[in-house]
Amino acid sequence: MRLDLFTLFPEAFEWFAAQRHVRNALAHGAELETINYRDTTPLGAGQVDDAPYGGGAGMVLRVDVVDAALRAAYPERRPDRIVLLTPGGEQFDESLATELAAEPHVALLCGRYEGFDERIRDHLATDAISIGRYVLAGGELAAMVVADAILRKLPGALGHADSALEESFSEALGGAPEYPHYTRPPDYLGWTVPDVLVSGDHERVREWRLEQSRRRGEGA
Ligand code: 6GU
Repeated sequence: MRLDLFTLFPEAFEWFAAQRHVRNALAHGAELETINYRDTTPLGAGQVDDAPYGGGAGMVLRVDVVDAALRAAYPERRPDRIVLLTPGGEQFDESLATELAAEPHVALLCGRYEGFDERIRDHLATDAISIGRYVLAGGELAAMVVADAILRKLPGALGHADSALEESFSEALGGAPEYPHYTRPPDYLGWTVPDVLVSGDHERVREWRLEQSRRRGEGA
């Protein structure tokens, strides 16, 4: 798949793009681009935002600036999913990550300043997503959260082929959180590992894990 990140701060994604699972996904054919709204702004002096109609604090990202960036990036066909990142959007979750990971081409639009002109949401975006009920200073961190959840599902992202199958919120666990993990030492300061995990009985281990996952899903 191809994932395009529209932002005023492309350098914010440098650390993210260097992560092992991201590089793995790219090595297996995924594509990740950052696109700076400022590079294609139709306004002078690199202007991208403006004062809000009706007054009030802060500056608003302009609709013509975002449309110009989309036109330049997609002279022929726009991606089927153009996702605006906004605190008031649909709550992002694992099933939305799975849905987006199945798309061939997704664009994520980061806002900045006080927000963006509502016509971006109404006419340019196909989706509006929030990563939680709190406000971030910009969409970049949210875009990284969304991009991470998507890219780690792509072929080759995780070293082990099974590691993304039986994990928190997966179908394999009925949408419940993952079961607890343990490793050596078996006894640390009297904190012991559950006997079943060292029993060598794979069927009992499987049952125990499903039960733990189910309990965690109930908030137990
Ligand atoms: Cl997507 N953007 C911003 N600025 N704040 C957020 C958010 C997004 N999701 C939660 N808070």
